[in-house]
Amino acid sequence: MNGDGTALPAAAPRDGTPAPGGSTAGRSTAAEPARRPAAPPADGEERATEAALRPKGLDGFIGQERVREQLDLVLRAARRRGATADHVLLSGAPGLGKTTLAMIIAAEMEAPLRITSGPAIQHTGDLAAVLASLTGGEILFLDEIHRMSRPAEEMLYLAMEDFRVDVVVGTGPDATAMSLELPPFTLVGATVRAGLLLPPLRDRFGFTGHMEFYDPAELERVVRRSARLLGVEIEPAGAAEIAGRSRGTPRIANRLLRRVRDYAQVTADGVVTREIASAALGVYEVDGRGLDRLDRAVLRALLKLFGGGPVGLATLAVAVGEERETVAEVAEPFLVREGLLARTPRGRTATPAAWAHFGLVPPPGPPPDGLPGAAPE
Ligand SMILES: Nc1ncnc2c1ncn2[C@@H]1O[C@H](COP(=O)(O)OP(=O)(O)OP(=O)(O)O)[C@@H](O)[C@H]1O
Ligand SMILES: [Mg+2]
Repeated sequence: MNGDGTALPAAAPRDGTPAPGGSTAGRSTAAEPARRPAAPPADGEERATEAALRPKGLDGFIGQERVREQLDLVLRAARRRGATADHVLLSGAPGLGKTTLAMIIAAEMEAPLRITSGPAIQHTGDLAAVLASLTGGEILFLDEIHRMSRPAEEMLYLAMEDFRVDVVVGTGPDATAMSLELPPFTLVGATVRAGLLLPPLRDRFGFTGHMEFYDPAELERVVRRSARLLGVEIEPAGAAEIAGRSRGTPRIANRLLRRVRDYAQVTADGVVTREIASAALGVYEVDGRGLDRLDRAVLRALLKLFGGGPVGLATLAVAVGEERETVAEVAEPFLVREGLLARTPRGRTATPAAWAHFGLVPPPGPPPDGLPGAAPE
């Protein structure tokens, strides 16, 4: 089952930089949807700022009370036993702090951290190389773990459970299977959805933390903390304004803060007030609810071209000139969460709140199938 005879490539660096093709926060790959100003994945300069803004310890990690408390117990118990912590799976939408938590786990355990990602592990040899070079107690962060190849996943089962890896050395008739003992290590896996993992892999994690979207008060704390670190003077109302438009996501809060800072420096004295924040976010086309250009294009097409739906995803995507995946994975989750769009068996449907958001009146007649709006509350 293990070992595909691939030669072992060079091991991933151990200093926190991504493996070749690996990832820290939000690396771009061709398979991912197009970037837009308020979309979660990070790139370019953002990665550097993100690194600077990451809380270093559990104490500095804002929100996610439950995950933080549970993780704190897991780590403290391991430290007390003088053992490595159980394997940890972190699931949650982009930008909620999975990479940040992985780094915190390493810091709290005072252990070195190795970072790689599912897409970088396409052959079992890639994984074997990383595993074979781990030192005792090391934290292996496997980002986007759901994108690992199946054979690598199977190799990982054995490594997680028995701290052992089977590799094939050599090729052809001289090939021999070898079983390597691994030092104990802690695997920290991150995924946007735990449901994307096969049960055998999911079950091998001793602890799974589900990251939730942040509430506005928590995001306000994130904004104020980041402003302090960036040396930006911000009024509480300014922080609240940014938090309210950040889609429950710290990465977006930090991103909007940087754009608002630019605006404040160029057009005013640099102090972020509510008025400045609101004007700046207007310039960047992020509306009062945090909807950006793509979100609004999708909703507007749904309302104006298709009378509120239902309409199929493919048609809707063509109408806004985007890939289906971009509409389904980038715009829709937030729109559904905000109660503006519903995915019904017959297609995408606008909710009464969507009509109201654009100041439009829904056409007369009963609401389309599948909409809760039909039932009196
Ligand atoms: N709880 C938090 N407190 C303060 N800042 C946070 C918190 N969570 C995330 N952040 C900030 O948000 C940014 C994005 O977080 P992170 O990279 O950990 O997200 P992620 O879940 O790994 O995203 P992705 O799925 O795209 O990899 C970081 O710069 C970090 O500083
Ligand atoms: Mg990440």
